[in-house]
Amino acid sequence: MKYPTKILCDFFFGSLVSQCLNLEMIMIFSVSKYCCLTHPFMVENLVERMVKWVKVDGFIFFRESCFHRSGDSKRKYNPTHYREPRFYTKVFKECHTRDGSGNSFELSLIGCKCISAYVKNKKNQNQICWVWKKVSSYEDKGFQRFLDNVQYKSNGILRYERVFGQGYVSTGGIETTKEFVGKLDLKPGQKVLDVGCGIGGGDFYMAENFDVEVVGIDLSINMISFALERAIGLNYSVEFEVADCTTKTYPNNTFDVIYSRDTILHIQDKPALFRSFFKWLKPGGKVLISDYCKSAGTPSPEFAEYIKQRGYDLHDVKAYGQMLRDAGFDEVIAEDRSDQFNKVLRRELNAVEKDKDEFICDFSEGDYNDIVGGWKAKLIRSSSGEQRWGLFIAKKK
Ligand SMILES: C[S@@+](CC[C@H](N)C(=O)[O-])C[C@H]1O[C@@H](n2cnc3c(N)ncnc32)[C@H](O)[C@@H]1O
Repeated sequence: MKYPTKILCDFFFGSLVSQCLNLEMIMIFSVSKYCCLTHPFMVENLVERMVKWVKVDGFIFFRESCFHRSGDSKRKYNPTHYREPRFYTKVFKECHTRDGSGNSFELSLIGCKCISAYVKNKKNQNQICWVWKKVSSYEDKGFQRFLDNVQYKSNGILRYERVFGQGYVSTGGIETTKEFVGKLDLKPGQKVLDVGCGIGGGDFYMAENFDVEVVGIDLSINMISFALERAIGLNYSVEFEVADCTTKTYPNNTFDVIYSRDTILHIQDKPALFRSFFKWLKPGGKVLISDYCKSAGTPSPEFAEYIKQRGYDLHDVKAYGQMLRDAGFDEVIAEDRSDQFNKVLRRELNAVEKDKDEFICDFSEGDYNDIVGGWKAKLIRSSSGEQRWGLFIAKKK
């Protein structure tokens, strides 16, 4: 980012606001201000005006107290409205404005996370900050939008969770999590990065049971909104951030473990990502990945269509392991876990079919049919041997 020339800092809603109407701001910065606005429409209104004030490519940064207050000292009067983070995310995400020439603008989410100092020192996830960038509406935020509006809509996430189990959006839920995390030999205080953390089930499990510090990143705003909400009140160290693992950077030697479950299927340039993992891991650190794979050779037209429609990039298990070796990893284990995948799919499908009435009551008949149809199709693909599932563990020496 270039150094901003005009920053509206921690503004107050009186005179300053009227003064800044003539400025073109590069950044608007505020701490715990929207929670003082009584009605949601007041927040919506202000956001709309801020989008007008800020320049294209300018930023809006804010931090809010969500869910509940931070301290426990008694106050006679507390006008604060402790809202859920998804309220702010929705208001900012849905704000669209036009200038006098009819050009339209919106905000692109650059980052959203809990404030680390509160998580580490107070085990408190209620202080949340966002950074948004003003962009022209035609700018392509394509993949994030695809995730949030197509593959992982909020309702879609909840119905997946119903199948995979609380906190999980990937194969086997808590059962495979226990098995795979058990291979990591986690020690208290170690730092774990979960790439494509979803709604955070695996992160809560690791932090609670092994006393490790977990950072979960995910490109989907919907996923991170759920994760942030569920982190609240938990007495262990989990931090979540909306971030694209292909552009995110960390200093070299930051993590003891990098963990990723059924996510890297979305990533086209796996070699580059694995090189980043290698750099981000400390010497002696481990990477553990489970991922969708395919059999070697050309996929059938139906499977090719499925891969294309989802935008996946799949490899056979052996080639996948080789990509980790090429990135510098040692002691690479590349296991074909397709039989386990198949068993888990059958069990998940049986459970949903048994739970049909309740599922339809909580979601809809259409949702039920989508899920059952999706699972049956996965079973056909995996039974034929075309779709495979791999487990990869490797070490940075
Ligand atoms: C099948 S879900 C798995 C979620 C989680 N790992 C779990 O086990 O429940 C795949 C996740 O990858 C995330 N994802 C896809 N592309 C990503 C990217 N470039 N950076 C970060 N996360 C990404 C998706 O948003 C989604 O949450």
